Amino acid sequence: MKFFLDTANIEEIKKADDWGLLDGVTTNPTLIAKTGKPFLQVAKEIIEVLGDRPVSLEVVATDYEGMVKQAREIAKLGPNVAVKIPMTADGIKAVKTLSEEGIKTNVTLVFSPMQALLAAKAGATYVSPFVGRLDDISMEGIKLIEEIVAIYNNYGFETEIIVASVRHPEHVRMAALLGADIATIPFAVMEKLFKHPLTDIGLERFLKDWNALPEDFKPDFLK
Ligand code: G3P
Repeated sequence: MKFFLDTANIEEIKKADDWGLLDGVTTNPTLIAKTGKPFLQVAKEIIEVLGDRPVSLEVVATDYEGMVKQAREIAKLGPNVAVKIPMTADGIKAVKTLSEEGIKTNVTLVFSPMQALLAAKAGATYVSPFVGRLDDISMEGIKLIEEIVAIYNNYGFETEIIVASVRHPEHVRMAALLGADIATIPFAVMEKLFKHPLTDIGLERFLKDWNALPEDFKPDFLK
């Protein structure tokens, strides 16, 4: 399972990269706006840190021609760039054109299994179903992932499923159990994945017991 970071914040990206667990980054216009920096500056900084790992950057046009034009420019930023295209009829048409040109795409704002099926049929590289936003309106976000995984497996689609709009570690656990290819995770949630209170209590006790030993029981390299 791949872990992407869902952020445009370069400091967060560098920290997550330092853990050695970062497989990619996804952004959206809201996340770019939050940085308070120009789009190209943010995009280039992220691409530089990620090297050959995938980075998703989103178009803001909503018509077919506009999306294709913007996507071609965004794709020029690097071979690892996937262009996020919104899940609309024009968007799917754009994905079809772009995939035929060899441009990687990530169909975003997906809230139903049928939308995910259309994205795969159009040749999308990635599909991004939003689990948290479905939970927000009292629908079961994770159920959507289960159905997309089943549908894609039925037909052998190669489109990778990015579980997006992740709000807590439970979303990541369920995504992993269901066999989703990727979870794109906010930094604060990624930090939480490391933590368990019993780990902290256990470590404290191990060290307390060790420290109570006479000094000459401990080899130099364990002092
Ligand atoms: O980038 C797509 C998605 O992960 C957004 O998440 O928390 O704004 O619903 P959120």
